Amino acid sequence: MNIIILGASSGIGLELARCFAKANHTVYITGRRADLLNNLQAESPDRYKVKVFDVTEPATSERCFQEMVADLGTVDIVVVNAGWGTINKSLDWSIEQGVLQTNVMGAAHLSVLAMHQFLRQGSGHLVGISSVAALLGNSYNPAYNASKAFLSNYLSGLRKLAKAKRMPIAVTDIRPGYVDTAILGGTKPFWTQPVEKAAQQIYAAIQAKRKVVYITRRWSLVGFLLRHFGS
Ligand SMILES: NC(=O)c1ccc[n+]([C@@H]2O[C@H](COP(=O)([O-])OP(=O)(O)OC[C@H]3O[C@@H](n4cnc5c(N)ncnc54)[C@H](OP(=O)(O)O)[C@@H]3O)[C@@H](O)[C@H]2O)c1
Repeated sequence: MNIIILGASSGIGLELARCFAKANHTVYITGRRADLLNNLQAESPDRYKVKVFDVTEPATSERCFQEMVADLGTVDIVVVNAGWGTINKSLDWSIEQGVLQTNVMGAAHLSVLAMHQFLRQGSGHLVGISSVAALLGNSYNPAYNASKAFLSNYLSGLRKLAKAKRMPIAVTDIRPGYVDTAILGGTKPFWTQPVEKAAQQIYAAIQAKRKVVYITRRWSLVGFLLRHFGS
C-alpha cells in the first residue's frame, strides 16, 4: 500500500511510519525538518519517500500533495498528524493563531486534498490524529483543545460525506491521551504512554478501519467519562 503521513519527522508520526515501513508499505514522510526526515529515510531507503513542506502554507501544501500523488499513482491512506500545542496561560494571540493555523486550517486543507484524491480514485482511507482533548475545553491552552474538537467533528462530517456518495472511503478519528513526545515539553502527566505503544495501537486501528479510537486503550475510560460527565 501507499501511505502519506503528514508530520512524520518526530513523535507519533515517525513511529507510525516505522510500523508501515516494517510491513513493507511505501510511506511518504513529510514535515518541515528535512534533516529528521532524511534520517528516518536512511533507516530504509526503499520504503520511505520524503517531502518537506509546511502544512500552514496552502499553495505549497497543495503542490507538494499533488507531487506525492503523481509519484505514488494511487494513495491508500493519508494520515493527518501534523500538529502542535503549548501552554498558553497568558492567552498570547500569536500562539493561539499558530495552533489554529496548523491544527485547524492545515489539517482541514490536507484532509480535503486527501478526500478529493480518494473520490477521484473511488477508494481510500483518511486518518486524523485528534486527541482526547477534543472532548473538553482547557484553560491552559484553549486553542489546542478547540482545534482537536474541530478536527474530530470535521472527520465525522467527511465520513458522512463519503457515505452519502456511496464510496468505500474510510475515515478514522484517532484520539490519543498523553503520549511521550516533544509536544509534552518534557513533562510526564498521568498515564503518559510510550510513543511506540501508541503507534502500534494506531497502526492496528487503521488496519481495522475503526471510526473512532482512543489511544492507548486505557484512555477510552477517560473518553467515556468526559463524554458523559465532562463540560
Ligand atoms: N503526544 C501527545 O500527548 C498527543 C496527544 C494527543 C494528540 N497528539 C497529536 O499527535 C500529533 C503528533 O504530535 P506528537 O505528539 O507526535 O508531537 P511531535 O513529536 O512534536 O510531532 C509533531 C509532528 O507534526 C509536524 N508538524 C507540526 N507543525 C507542522 C507544520 N506547520 N507543517 C508540517 N508539519 C508540522 C512536525 O514536523 P516538523 O516540526 O518537522 O514540521 C512533527 O513531525 C499532533 O497532532 C498532536 O496534537 C499528541
